[in-house]
Amino acid sequence: MLVLSLLGGLIAEAEDGHQLWLRKQKEQPVTVLSPLPNPVLDIAVKELKENWQGEANTTVKLELISDKRIKTDGFRISRQLIQANTQLGLLYGTYELLRRQQTGDPIVGISNPAYQRRILNHWDNPNGSIERGYAGKSIFWRNKDLTVTASDRKLWEEYARANASVGINGSVLNNVNASPGMLSTENLGRAKAIADVLRPYGIQVYLSVNFASPVRLGGLKSADPLNADVIAWWKKKTKEVYSMIPDFGGFLVKANSEGQPGPQDFGRTHADGANMMADILKPYKGIVMWRAFVYDAKDKDRARLAYTEFKPLDGKFRDNVIVQVKNGPIDFQPREPFSPLFGAMKKTAVMPEFQITQEYLGHSYQLVYLAPMWEECLKSDTYQEGKGSTVARVTDGSIFAGKYNAIAGVANIGLDTNWTGHHFAQANWYAFGRLAWDHQLSSEKIADEWIKLTFGRAGAGPDWKSKFLNPVKDMMMESREACVNYSMPLGLHHIFSADDHYGPGPWWAPENMRPDWTPPYYHQADSTGIGFDRTKTGSNAVSQYHEPLCSRFNAAETCPEVYLLWFHHLPWDYKMKSGKILWDELCYLYDKGLNEVRGFQKTWDKAEEYVDAERFLHVQRRLKRQTRDAQVYKDGCLLYFQQFSRRPIPFELERPVYNLDFIRSMKPLSINR
Ligand code: GCU
Repeated sequence: MLVLSLLGGLIAEAEDGHQLWLRKQKEQPVTVLSPLPNPVLDIAVKELKENWQGEANTTVKLELISDKRIKTDGFRISRQLIQANTQLGLLYGTYELLRRQQTGDPIVGISNPAYQRRILNHWDNPNGSIERGYAGKSIFWRNKDLTVTASDRKLWEEYARANASVGINGSVLNNVNASPGMLSTENLGRAKAIADVLRPYGIQVYLSVNFASPVRLGGLKSADPLNADVIAWWKKKTKEVYSMIPDFGGFLVKANSEGQPGPQDFGRTHADGANMMADILKPYKGIVMWRAFVYDAKDKDRARLAYTEFKPLDGKFRDNVIVQVKNGPIDFQPREPFSPLFGAMKKTAVMPEFQITQEYLGHSYQLVYLAPMWEECLKSDTYQEGKGSTVARVTDGSIFAGKYNAIAGVANIGLDTNWTGHHFAQANWYAFGRLAWDHQLSSEKIADEWIKLTFGRAGAGPDWKSKFLNPVKDMMMESREACVNYSMPLGLHHIFSADDHYGPGPWWAPENMRPDWTPPYYHQADSTGIGFDRTKTGSNAVSQYHEPLCSRFNAAETCPEVYLLWFHHLPWDYKMKSGKILWDELCYLYDKGLNEVRGFQKTWDKAEEYVDAERFLHVQRRLKRQTRDAQVYKDGCLLYFQQFSRRPIPFELERPVYNLDFIRSMKPLSINR
């Protein structure tokens, strides 16, 4: 291996991944005609001149037109012409043209954005830490130090460029668990500096706000949204924000959720709270993104709560409020059915929230390509307005034509040189942007593009495709299902260890802990079987889905097996479609997941000569760890559940290599090893 690595090092220059999918290639000379000099178009001209891979010495023209077939910041491209109705459209067209020159896709046609607002949510704290961040500290905030340096600006510009290249046009700069101090004049000064750098790339800045800011920052006695002093406080603060950032996007709010303050603390509803802010933001064209991530220990089923609270408020929100809903009803698990709120709120704008950072899918230690999971969600049919009411279509304005539509992804970006910790986690940032722009793209197509841009080499022969591109793409496409298999197959969910959400912990239930924060609440394993009964005779969460889904999910025979234990508590000897009993099927899937990761190691090792040594070794190390950790998952979960099933692990499968006691006594698996 060492010899090959050295050889690889000679062939390909070491790369640290900082250039993402925008790696500098030797450019061809080109003449660019631009309608006018200005900050946005100057970027487009520079990009074309510095990265032109088309025919040498041609002329390419950027043209502002007025064409109804082109929507908002969409564009039309051909080999030497980019047309758009807006300047940003020309910038997006530029990136698309340059991308297609590299990927070999045909350079022709119109492309329109699926969502108006395509937003990254950064869970960054003012002290520089990042909640659920696995790639170093915040690129925006440094503890107490608010000075803006030249290297800050350089990094923010690189970040803005990467986002613009995939069509992302919004950034929420701070954590949804928002520090009230975020709205202090000093912090706003830094937000302004960031906004100034991001603006020419078409990126609007938003902030998460703490609902109790009038009390905690403003010194008022109350944060009641109907109180005149409170309203006056928000008005004044909002005015200050817009005086510094005239194109500020709006507020993101996590209220009455996981201990965060909210309108319910004052006997008001979510709509009262959101509308108060929406009215204040309206004259500035700002929006409120109000999160529906709420649950309560008192409810018998956490999965039901968001719908129970928000559905009755449908129609009560202002038109500049968008309710932000996580893809699934619980919390970004490796697999969840879509949230039943999609399509059910017919008079309220609803935006999907995906999690790009891999909180529950292996942090940045594991290679898990998330686009197949998002594609699965976006293409799920809610049936709310008849067949074809997919999650994508009920949120993008094509079925419910609201004033605003949007999509958000919780960012996986930090100060690590390669931005995302794992080189392959860059693909998740890339894929979020591409899907937000065009939710009809397949995750496979996106992977294909990303690999070509991220690992492609000038002059690569045909074997690059068969020996690198295709196997690596297959590995990416399989990786999410592998993660589901070795961590929580068949609709199992939230069986992680403790708070870090990495590694198995189906047994984890400290005394006095809220039951809905412990795995046994979710898997319900006992001697009679396993799974959460959400049928009509159970928690009845199935009734939140429109027919035919409600009946389909309600009957074990028709429930898709990937969601079986999400909706049903079934006996260990329940007969699966494969003919195996449930217990055996579970064992096979855990084993399959582990073997899939072993396969990834082989794929990657075989690809060595096509990758620079630096990135090769980095990924190789992480795949080793992923395999070891998948083994811990498999052994931990199977040995724990076996105490209830009292059946052998099928003898044709590999035996566990760890003891359950050992796994339970291990230090958290997330600790860097
Ligand atoms: C998860 C996550 C929290 C986060 C929360 C949210 O529960 O573990 O860290 O704050 O989601 O989305 O608000």
